[in-house]
Amino acid sequence: MEKEEREKWILAGKIGKEVRELGISMCKPGTKLIDIAEAIEKKTQEMGAKPSFPPNLSINQIAAHYTPKFEDKTELKEGDIIKIDVGASVDGYLSDTAATTVVGVGENPLVKSAKDALDSVMRIIKPGMPIIEISSVIEDTIRKAGFSPIVNLGGHGVGKYSLHEGEFIANARNYSESYLRKEGIVAVEPFATTGGGYVIDSSEVQILSLIKSKNVRSSLGREILKFIEEEYHELPFAKRWIMNKFGRLADMELKALVANGALNEFNVLKEKDNGMVAQFEHSFLFDDGKVTVTTL
Ligand code: CO
Repeated sequence: MEKEEREKWILAGKIGKEVRELGISMCKPGTKLIDIAEAIEKKTQEMGAKPSFPPNLSINQIAAHYTPKFEDKTELKEGDIIKIDVGASVDGYLSDTAATTVVGVGENPLVKSAKDALDSVMRIIKPGMPIIEISSVIEDTIRKAGFSPIVNLGGHGVGKYSLHEGEFIANARNYSESYLRKEGIVAVEPFATTGGGYVIDSSEVQILSLIKSKNVRSSLGREILKFIEEEYHELPFAKRWIMNKFGRLADMELKALVANGALNEFNVLKEKDNGMVAQFEHSFLFDDGKVTVTTL
């Protein structure tokens, strides 16, 4: 790996870690979710990067893909289990990292089980190893604590301007005979729940991404699409970001862009049994046979 490329992966990781910790430090009763999201976005930019995706601030039974909506009024309450899943992009070199806290409390056994699962992965992870060994240690750690791993969420390879590519790293044993890559970046993200361990789509969507550019009739729609292409490439972005820039009417234009196939929607994911959900995630850089946790 080129030195310059390696330095950008490392910097993206460092910024991801900083903004994850900033987010966790803000999780107090009465704090507005939108203030946490905006603080994370501002700090990411101040450190010289862009968010690699909108800060996912998912509470309790929501597992992932919630970012505050335009003018979001949600406030944190004592006892809420909040996942902060964030990442930074340095010229398309990305990080992806997450942590969970219990508002006003800090940790509970569920949160600890997800954290312990990621710690166990950090002790064994090696470039090119069988993925099933990672899946097994995650599943065993979470089940031993009396909870379930979420089986249809998992870690993933990461590429330049590409948040999910290549290998899927399941959070429980499956029939995978695949191996981790030998060079490059992977993100590992154990999810633990008090439910059965399966997430489903809710009807809500706050995050979108570009599939491909299309002809658009409305001039506002064309302007929005051009902005998305230039600003986010194929990386996920928040509805809120577009509405902040283009106003309330942008909401309708985004719906039209989804309908004509230009944009993809990420539905908010919730645990099927309404189980509480905790998650931790780090990005790992494999280079020359060595492992660096970029978001530690
Ligand atoms: Co991830």
